[in-house]
Parts: sequence; structure tokens; C-alpha cells
Amino acid sequence: MSPFRLTRTLPEDATDAALRADVLNGLTRTPKTLPPKWFYDAHGSELFDRITELPEYYPTRAEREILLGRAAEIAAASGARALVELGSGSSDKTRHLLDAMPELHAYVPVDVSESALRQAGEALVAERPGLEVHALIADFTAGIRLPETPGARLVAFLGGTIGNLVPEERAAFLTSVRALLAPGDALLLGTDLVKDESVLVAAYDDAAGVTAAFNKNVLSVMNRELGADFDPGAFDHVALWDAEREWIEMRLRSRTAQTVKVPALDLAVDFAAGEELRTEVSAKFRREGVTAELAAAGLDLTHWWTDAEGRFALSLSVAG
Ligand code: SAH
Ligand code: AVI
Repeated sequence: MSPFRLTRTLPEDATDAALRADVLNGLTRTPKTLPPKWFYDAHGSELFDRITELPEYYPTRAEREILLGRAAEIAAASGARALVELGSGSSDKTRHLLDAMPELHAYVPVDVSESALRQAGEALVAERPGLEVHALIADFTAGIRLPETPGARLVAFLGGTIGNLVPEERAAFLTSVRALLAPGDALLLGTDLVKDESVLVAAYDDAAGVTAAFNKNVLSVMNRELGADFDPGAFDHVALWDAEREWIEMRLRSRTAQTVKVPALDLAVDFAAGEELRTEVSAKFRREGVTAELAAAGLDLTHWWTDAEGRFALSLSVAG
């Protein structure tokens, strides 16, 4: 069995410093906002995995359907010997790709969630002797440095996670992904598609309340890491569709006027009754938009596959 390697690309206190900076910056501005990457401590990663099984949350099932049908085509078109996956989480759907790539030498999952990387990486090396698994704890928006890998490289960014970046962040992110690719290397990108508002809102406001717990988990992260005294019960989960920007927004709405203390930052944050903190955007896409955003980063879209219901798309693009 090849060993499982886990590399932290940033010093251990960098995460702490980044959280402090994001909380200070995000909670002292109007409207208040936090980046979604802070959802994903071990509990948040578990909650996300539960979301993927909810009846209302179709993206995971739709993307899995495409991967099951197209993995062989993706493997052949990319000819990859190394698969790099950004925001890999449980690497669950990735197994369909790995099954179709017996010649693959290295798998490099990249995530901010150490617990998710460990769990997935340890299982994968046991399941696939001969596959080198080199996990990176890294923020994919902060410019990552990859280990040397042999042959053609396929970078996968699944789940529609690109939609959690706003347009300016997406442009910078895609440019940084292009820099990881040599000419002829490819990007496999999952994008959730624009659809009926009721279907979208239900996917982010499920009846069992798992998405609400996921959203409120960011408050627990701030309580644990920064000594804050957020009461998750004092906030309501909000999911709404912004038809102009074509994204779902998740927010936490303060039920009352309240002041929250964040001792690590020597900060007291006032919330008015009904005031909202934006915790995530989840953009939905159309083919023309995806093609144009990829092209702007020097990536030529060569394949576009959707599930049978046309809810989700996987695209393959090649570095020119
Ligand atoms: N790709 C998986 C998981 C999607 S959930 C799937 O399709 O089901 C999003 C994943 O991205 C989580 O595992 C989260 O920890 C990771 N993530 C979110 N923001 C990140 C960032 N800025 N850098 C690295 N990983 C990030
Ligand atoms: C990871 N990402 C694609 C998810 C999404 O659908 O935007 C995160 C999520 N937020 C709420 N539910 C799921």
C-alpha cells in the first residue's frame, strides 16, 4: 500500500490569522458578511455530507449521474496521469473517475478541511494499492503550490463549489487554476445550472433543517476559535434566490437586537433586530457564461455534459 501523505501548505497559525482577519473585516462592515470556507470544520464537513443525501439537494446526485455516464470519456479526453481535486471533501464522487483511470499515478486532493482529507485519503490508499495519494491542506483561493506530478494533469473542481465564489473571485481563481496547467492539461468543472426558484430555494432550506445547522455552524466555529458568544438559537437560517445575480444567498438573520462579543479580537458586534449576516453565495450558471469565464482565463471548453434533467453540468476545458 502506498503511504498517504498530508501536507499543510501554510503554517498552522495561518488559518487562525485568516479567520481573525475575515471575522474582523466581515463583521465590522455593512452588510455583514463572512466567506463560506469557515463552515468546514470537522462538524461542518459532516453536515455537508448529510446535505448531499437530502431529498431536496439534487446537485450531488445530478453530478454523480454525469460522472457515472462520462467517466471513461473524461479519462480518455484528458489522458491524465495525475488528478488534482480542489475542495475534494469526502472524495466520494471522485471514486467514479478513479475507477475509469487505472493508469492514474497520483491523486492530489486539496481542501481546507483536514478531517475530510484524512478520512478520504486513508480510505483511498487502502482501497487502491499503487495509487499515490498526496493530500494538501490549502486554501484554493490563496494560490496553491502543487507537488511534482508525472504526465498530463487533470484538475477537477466538482460539486458546483465554484459557485461559492463571487464573479471577481472566480476570475482570479480560474486564472490561478490555469497557472497549474501545462498546455493540453485539462480542467473538469462542475457547475449547478439556473432553474426554477422553488427547486433552488428548497435545496438550500431543507425540511429536516440540516442546511440551517450547516449555516449556523459558522457561529460555533467563531465561538470555539475566537471565544465568541454567538447563540445559534438567536439567529434564523435564510436562503433566498437573487434573480438578477442568479445566485442563492444564505444568510443568518438576528432574531433580536443583540451584541455579540469576540474576545480574541477585542470586538463587540451589534446586530439590529432582523439584521442579516451573509454567509454564502451559491451561483447558478448557464453554458454561455461558463464558456466565457473559462475562455477569459485561457481555457477552451471542449465538452459539456448535463444530467438527464438538465439540472447540473460538468465541463471539460483545455489549457491553450
Ligand atoms: N467536492 C465535494 C465537496 C464539496 S463541499 C463534492 O462535490 O461533494 C466544498 C468543499 O470545499 C469542502 O470540503 C470544503 O472544505 C472545501 N473548501 C471550501 N472552501 C475552500 C477553500 N477556500 N480552499 C480549499 N477548500 C475549500
Ligand atoms: C459546496 N457548495 C457547492 C455547496 C453549495 O451548494 O453551494 C455548499 C452548500 N451550501 C448549502 N448547501 C450546500
